[in-house]
Order: sequence, then C-alpha cells, then structure tokens
Amino acid sequence: MAREPRLICASEALAEGGRGERFALASQDGRAQQCFAVRHGGVVRAFVNRCPHLGTELDWQPGEFFEESGLYLVCSTHGAIFEPRTGFCVAGPCRGASLEPLEVRETNGQVVLANDEAAPAPKRTSDSP
Ligand code: FES
Repeated sequence: MAREPRLICASEALAEGGRGERFALASQDGRAQQCFAVRHGGVVRAFVNRCPHLGTELDWQPGEFFEESGLYLVCSTHGAIFEPRTGFCVAGPCRGASLEPLEVRETNGQVVLANDEAAPAPKRTSDSP
C-alpha cells in the first residue's frame, strides 16, 4: 500500500531565488538533521543544511540561503558560494566540495521528499507563512 508523500511545504512558499524552507529529518543515528529547500531555475532543490567547510548551517537569517543576486547559495559563516542546481561550492574555503543533496519533487502544488522510504516525517523548523 502506497504511503502518503512527506510534505516539505506548499510549492508557492518557494519563490525563485527567494526565501527557502527549513525542515528537519532524522539522520541514521536518530538525531535531527537540518535541511532546506529553495527554488532555482524554476526547480525546487533541497540540501542538508550543513556547510562542507565547518559543518555550520548556511542561512544568514532563518530561511535566507541566497546571496544578494539570488543566483547562488551562500554560507553565512565564511561566505562560501554554492551552485544551487548541484550544491557544488564554486568559491570560498570549501571550493570543490558540495552540499549534500536531497531528492524532492513537486506534486499537486506541494513539495515532497522524492524518496522517503527510510526518512521520518519532516519537521518544520521556521515560522514559514
Ligand atoms: S563554515 Fe561555511 S564557509 Fe566556513
């Protein structure tokens, strides 16, 4: 029997190059793993919210992941710049490393995890509208 897909947020909550949606998943050791979803190039992208440099969360304000132009993701700690399509770091102290991607899809106006077989339900961690 098919399970309901795990909801991250409504599609309309993610504007192109705008504020992202924070959510949490349990990692394999059972602890909460902070994650986020943003929209770039019309497509929703999601990553674990952990900079490959020192492991800090990226957002400079809760849910704010893009730099000023809205074209790249930026780490608020030391300014590493990431390509939003892949999470690849193109500049900064972790250049050449990547954010950990998560598969998501949009269906019926909702953003959901694409493969949630082993993942527990996401938990919202910000005051999104
Ligand atoms: S912790 Fe992200 S660039 Fe240093």
